[in-house]
Amino acid sequence: MSTVALTIDGREIAVPKGTTIFDAARLNGIAIPTLCHQQNQTPVGVCRVCVVDVGARVYAASCIRECEPGMKVQTASAPVVQARTTLIEMLMADHPTPCARQERSGDCELETMAAAAGVSQPRFARRLSPRGRDDSSLSIAVDHEACILCDRCVRGCDDIKKNMVIGRSGRGYTAHIGFDLDLPMGSSTCVSCGECMVSCPTGALTNKRVVDAQLEGDRLDPEWILQLPVFKGVSGTFLELNQGAVVKRSIPAGETICREGEFGSTAFYILEGTVEVSINTPIGHVQQQDAGGLSRWFRRIRSTLADRQAHTRTEESGRRYIPIDAPVDLPYEKPIAELAAGDLFGEMTCMSFHPRSATVRAKTPVVVLEMLRNVLDILQKNKTFRAELDRKYRQRALETHIRSVPVFAAMPPDFIGYLRERVELMRFSPGEVIVRQGDAADAFYLVRMGFVKVSERHPGGDVVLTYLGRGSYFGEMGLLGGGVRTATCTALDHVDVVKIAGEDFHLMLSRFPAVREALEKVAQERAAMNQRRAAATETVPIDDFLNQGLMEAQSLLVLDLEKCTRCDQCVKACADAHEGVTRLVREGLRFDKYLVATSCRSCRDPLCMVGCPVGSIRRRNSMEIIIEDWCVGCGLCVRNCPYGNLNLHAFGARRKATGCDLCMEHDEPSCVYACPHDAAHRVEPLTYFGGMLGIREQTAKGSTEGTSK
Ligand code: SF4
Ligand code: SF4
Ligand code: SF4
Ligand code: FES
Repeated sequence: MSTVALTIDGREIAVPKGTTIFDAARLNGIAIPTLCHQQNQTPVGVCRVCVVDVGARVYAASCIRECEPGMKVQTASAPVVQARTTLIEMLMADHPTPCARQERSGDCELETMAAAAGVSQPRFARRLSPRGRDDSSLSIAVDHEACILCDRCVRGCDDIKKNMVIGRSGRGYTAHIGFDLDLPMGSSTCVSCGECMVSCPTGALTNKRVVDAQLEGDRLDPEWILQLPVFKGVSGTFLELNQGAVVKRSIPAGETICREGEFGSTAFYILEGTVEVSINTPIGHVQQQDAGGLSRWFRRIRSTLADRQAHTRTEESGRRYIPIDAPVDLPYEKPIAELAAGDLFGEMTCMSFHPRSATVRAKTPVVVLEMLRNVLDILQKNKTFRAELDRKYRQRALETHIRSVPVFAAMPPDFIGYLRERVELMRFSPGEVIVRQGDAADAFYLVRMGFVKVSERHPGGDVVLTYLGRGSYFGEMGLLGGGVRTATCTALDHVDVVKIAGEDFHLMLSRFPAVREALEKVAQERAAMNQRRAAATETVPIDDFLNQGLMEAQSLLVLDLEKCTRCDQCVKACADAHEGVTRLVREGLRFDKYLVATSCRSCRDPLCMVGCPVGSIRRRNSMEIIIEDWCVGCGLCVRNCPYGNLNLHAFGARRKATGCDLCMEHDEPSCVYACPHDAAHRVEPLTYFGGMLGIREQTAKGSTEGTSK
């Protein structure tokens, strides 16, 4: 091999031809500082911190400049050090100090270098347009401000891991690293391997610890974890940084792993054994019955638990399966199923902190990995693992998922078999738009996991039509109507959907007229409801009425404060009617001379529906909120209602959610009836306050039920 002879800092050395000045110096014990260069990466020479004097007109970047015969290199002369310091000052001018890495571990390479060079107050002006942060990934926090555009992450992702996710975007002052086509990191094809993060010299890419929970179980050595196929390709350093975020648990047969209704923040991956998943809360709804009394004043309402055989409600959905946070749905009649090695459960709880949807017990001795969000994120993004989960879903869960939607309950197996390989399984991050109002309608979607917000554009802003959880569907209105999306559907949290292409949807409708009929009926009801809402909203002034959320209500209990003497007869009547527990609090928001009492408003934007782990709280097409039989009593809806209008009702050891029942068993609400001063009214707000708000006559007339009773 031919060699090259040169001198570095006065020392005569010889190195193989093609060696860079930086490597030649390093091999001979001479240290040259670097930022964009790392030993395991191809040098790109972008930061220029490694400049040396080679006797030419301009200094050379030693990480890319090859040695030449007879070259005389100066690595630390005063002018070289001065040039390097100026470069560091310029980088520091745009760098938040301390950055996240410096703050956490004190080893931001730029800040360490700046301290060594005595750079404290940079002389250069900071950039005026901030580049911002990106918190969309569950495992890696991106602070574009701290990025020095050294390209180490780009080479880590593209050259080392071959994931090809990161590149550069923008020019000049707007230049920044970008993921795919400049998407938020969490929405990109990033597989959360962590290579970019361990490559980054600053706090621009840092590890995100989502929850500081101490998991019980065996802490795992990163080397051991990396042997599991599902962790293939993950950076060992990344796992080191997340030690304790995944543990191994050995659970004897019969022991409970998690309980329905409990809040949690972990998911489980079964390594060995079989578990049984079930719902233990009695399946039944809260039925209100007139319990009699001496007079109208003392008549009571009793809440009992009724099953469908004993008491059928017209508004029941007719579901045969209960959606849960696992790759199976539970049959309504006998809500029990089994999961085995290779299955993952608790994804929704872990990703979005929803309560557990079912109780899971070890049927045989089992070994599970229990993990926090950032580790689950790695698993979910592992392409092989994802493909395996999706394969299992197509085989085991797609059929029950489709059948769990009442309009598809009778779909023959051969057509589901046809759909099995044709549907597309898609994921969306929080805030991502799945379909946009006005776009061409080309597919139909079933929600597999998470919650989807459906909203419509109006002159005053977007109006939320509803939230859809697992087992719900969207996209049929555009396909059945004019081929254009009628609303925008956005992922509220981490959402998985099953996408059925438009041509398969139309084939399904032509083969099964009953499905067409049912879908058309639902679409008509939804369209009518949307029209009513549009008519009601377009003329309402955006003021207090909106600020207080009254626009969201379709039924309000209001007390006229000019008539109300604060005698509390309404509260007493409510308590008398409901086994001594009032469902009405005589406090709340004020609008004009009215007090809006605490009682279910049947909101247009029913936040109570978001997050129900078993999808048992829903809205009928008439907009009323209904709680289905399989409520597990976790209380999330009670907490989510911004107005405190839902309650948990105890039936022995178990609980069920219930709202103000409007005293349906009586002719009118007990509170309204009991008020001796005619101050209490149950009203439809737009009709009742229409005159005051200047709402058009026809709108008031067009509004649905519920004028003052
Ligand atoms: S985590 Fe891995 S895949 Fe994602 S951007 Fe970083 S290096 Fe690329
Ligand atoms: S994010 Fe880090 S590694 Fe990537 S270009 Fe910026 S500073 Fe370099
Ligand atoms: S309806 Fe409410 S209490 Fe019942 S399971 Fe759903 S969120 Fe929990
Ligand atoms: S380390 Fe050589 S140019 Fe950055």
